[in-house]
Amino acid sequence: MVKFEHQSVMPDAVLDLLVTDQTGVYVDATLGAGGHAALMLKTYPKIKVIGIDQDSQALEYAKGQLAFYGARCRVAKGNFRYLEALLRSMGVTGVQGVLFDLGVSSPQLDQRDRGFSYQYEDAPLDMRMDTDNPISAFRLVNQKPERELAEAIRTFGEERWAARIAEFIVKARQQEPIRTSGQLVQVIRAAVPQAARRGGGHPARRTFQALRIWVNDELGALSDGLDEGWKMLTPNGRMAVLSFHSLEDRIVKKRFREWGDTDRARLMTKHPRTADEAEVKANPRARSAKLRIAEKIGH
Ligand SMILES: C[S@@+](CC[C@H](N)C(=O)[O-])C[C@H]1O[C@@H](n2cnc3c(N)ncnc32)[C@H](O)[C@@H]1O
Repeated sequence: MVKFEHQSVMPDAVLDLLVTDQTGVYVDATLGAGGHAALMLKTYPKIKVIGIDQDSQALEYAKGQLAFYGARCRVAKGNFRYLEALLRSMGVTGVQGVLFDLGVSSPQLDQRDRGFSYQYEDAPLDMRMDTDNPISAFRLVNQKPERELAEAIRTFGEERWAARIAEFIVKARQQEPIRTSGQLVQVIRAAVPQAARRGGGHPARRTFQALRIWVNDELGALSDGLDEGWKMLTPNGRMAVLSFHSLEDRIVKKRFREWGDTDRARLMTKHPRTADEAEVKANPRARSAKLRIAEKIGH
């Protein structure tokens, strides 16, 4: 079994800026391996944490990790785009802080069968964070029209070779379905000209990112989740968002600015906080992290 390990990103900044009421209730909307949640519970012995994740495996693991904190920590499976309903179903009507640590966790990437990584040759094309979701990467890759594939790879992967990759995917799947990550990587390698590959990282990186975002409707969920979380914050409550690519950060920045401009929010990070060199060295995933925090203005 793959080790279920995830190094939490920018833990000190998240804790310092998010927790202002040391007896409050906080939502970790992306519980993952439970790293941030455990740290919050340990550092502030009177707070309560509600952990949400759409990935049942992550939730089971986190439950074990957080069992020590007993009733101070409750967890629930769900998509944070429905955060209000989720919290209300747990009898919670307001919280003092919400954390979103976006994207996939290291265990999701490391587990071959989840199909998130282009590093495995024979992983199934899955990429669902929530395995109850009927749409997998296999379905999108093998069923979507070429135009839609190209559009998604261009938009969600910011891939300049999107049209060619889509064209090659459609040609390949006419011979036989593209079932594994290795098969898809081969198709992408054939589509991206050799000269364009130099220095750009793995040629499949952007297409895999695009498919993952598409399968999980990550940008739609983020947009909904921010609004839902904001509704549930009590006055002076804070929202912290760790994003990992420009598509996510753009949504967060825009929403925070709208709230700021209409006197609903105080922006605690005029410019996003980033991880320092030492953290990036120890945890490469922190390299692209951007942390933004907004506080709800009280009435
Ligand atoms: C980067 S990990 C979080 C790691 C966690 N902060 C820690 O320190 O261990 C992101 C987690 O968010 C979950 N996730 C992503 N989008 C989600 C959504 N829309 N609803 C619920 N969970 C989501 C993923 O399944 C993953 O487990």
